[in-house]
Amino acid sequence: MKIVVLNGSPRKNGNTEILVNSLIEGARGAGAEIEVVRLAEYAIQPCVACGGCEKTGRCVIEDDMQKLYELVDGADRLVIASPIYFYNVTAQTKIFIDRCQAMWSRKYLLGKHRRGDVPRKGYFVSVCATQGERIFDGAILTVKYALDAMDFVYDGALLVKGVDRKGAMAEKPEELERAREFGRQIAAD
Ligand SMILES: Cc1cc2nc3c(=O)[nH]c(=O)nc-3n(C[C@H](O)[C@H](O)[C@H](O)COP(=O)(O)O)c2cc1C
Repeated sequence: MKIVVLNGSPRKNGNTEILVNSLIEGARGAGAEIEVVRLAEYAIQPCVACGGCEKTGRCVIEDDMQKLYELVDGADRLVIASPIYFYNVTAQTKIFIDRCQAMWSRKYLLGKHRRGDVPRKGYFVSVCATQGERIFDGAILTVKYALDAMDFVYDGALLVKGVDRKGAMAEKPEELERAREFGRQIAAD
């Protein structure tokens, strides 16, 4: 099973990355093949709503997103990871998501499913500084809808509140164990 992890945090060795590394450890231990992408290292332009993809299901912008379309199509499981910025995912993640409009067009306008027979599962991983009750709500809605466009069924989230300072996540061994278990479950599912 191939699991693709898209990390939308721009902070290297940040809290999302630390959490994701534990998830990967768990999934690898359970035998999964993992590919991780740091979205901040990819040059992705925002969607310009040109409508090109409505006719072809393909985005006309030739940039690093073209590699990600292929990577996502080749995944059995997809993990979208992003810290919360202003009650949603980071700009890096949102630019990626908006460019998934080409996959939305492919699916809903052209009726082409990437793999119609076996439902693929997708997940959200997130961290935030505060303890707000509804802090993850907006991001979850965004990610659910994006996963659907990419032809994945949303199957749950790993969410950690109250981490802000870079590296604070490393001081939460119980959350890291929860991430390992989450990874094992994804690989076994
Ligand atoms: C631009 C920006 C916006 C943020 N907005 C929120 C927010 O709305 N709510 C919150 O709880 N934390 C917010 N945070 C804090 C981050 O979610 C937090 O620092 C997180 O641990 C960063 O994860 P990272 O180390 O993986 O980048 C924000 C941080 C930045 C830089």
